[in-house]
Amino acid sequence: MTKSTNYLIWDDEAINICSELLKKGEVVAFPTETVYGLGADATNDEAVKKIFEAKGRPADNPLIVHVASQEQMAQYVDHIPKVAKQLLDAFTPGPLTVILPSNGLISPFVTAGLETIGLRIPEHPAALELIEKANLPIAAPSANLSGKTSPTSAIHVYQDLDKRISAILDGGVTGVGVESTVVDCTTDVPRILRPGGITRLEIEAVLDQVIEDATVDDDINKPQAPGMKYNHYEPAVPLVLVKGDPDFFQEKIDEYKQMGKKVGVLASEERSTQLNVEKIETCGTLSDLSTVARDLYQVLRRFKETDVDLILAEYFPEEAVGYAIMNRLKKAATYIELKETMKK
Ligand code: TXA
Ligand code: MG
Repeated sequence: MTKSTNYLIWDDEAINICSELLKKGEVVAFPTETVYGLGADATNDEAVKKIFEAKGRPADNPLIVHVASQEQMAQYVDHIPKVAKQLLDAFTPGPLTVILPSNGLISPFVTAGLETIGLRIPEHPAALELIEKANLPIAAPSANLSGKTSPTSAIHVYQDLDKRISAILDGGVTGVGVESTVVDCTTDVPRILRPGGITRLEIEAVLDQVIEDATVDDDINKPQAPGMKYNHYEPAVPLVLVKGDPDFFQEKIDEYKQMGKKVGVLASEERSTQLNVEKIETCGTLSDLSTVARDLYQVLRRFKETDVDLILAEYFPEEAVGYAIMNRLKKAATYIELKETMKK
């Protein structure tokens, strides 16, 4: 499927062009506050099929529908349960996706035949302008080839999808850097299906109740969000997580080097200064894990342009957004190096 891709810098004219393309059933990549999305009219079967084709995405993995307001959301669901309303009031626009009962107006290709839909109100002004201008619900997964890391800038989208989609709307680098938190609001106790930009503690504070987290033992349990069974975050080079103090990290670097491997290291600013290795990419600061989330996918992509044989990555604290960061890194990892080597 070869087509010419319009590359547009975000302004009023670009919004007009992109909204016309969406109305005609074409596929357009656009920025959100988390990662870039690959959008199409969520009520148009043919348009939605083009998303799956462009990405090479398995058809049993449902897409998130992006809307501009709770009023627009209400048009596509049977009802909005109280907990969902509380979460939407507290966190949207923002990096939260709620799973709600569908009323059947959204294409079954979006929901992969489920009776529920994932919906979110993105916080990026370009995304909101585009949805409002097109006056459509926009189905959009992350705008990467299936299996690659999600794009946090328009250039990543271009690298993956040039000539496969109609347009790329460039609204700069995204801020959050990891995907939205997915919360199933159709069960008695809401459940987190994917950790993301909004943390469990923040959600529990708003709801004033403890909620379930279906992702705690993601590696051993059957995945709950259909998409979680796929390895979304495979970097081009094998990745090994290193959990331990700086001396242990250095030992591992030296061990792999002795095996003849070209080692690249992904580490926080703090840890970087404590390690001795030729190729190191710093990724945020431990004093603010949101900076690690923001830079993570970009840094993983950058390793692709180097000749390293493997990436040794820091095991970040699993607190606040660190929980989502480690969820993605564990999915990408081949091994976790602990004091005793343990296969994932
Ligand atoms: O931040 C984000 O959420 C980004 C931006 C573009 O909005 N989108 C994104 O979409 O990450 P995608 O398609 O890569 O991930 C959607 C996730 C998948 O894990 C999918 O299985 C889950 O949401 N999902 C969608 N609809 C669902 C449903 N009805 N029930 C359960 N999980 C659902
Ligand atoms: Mg994705």
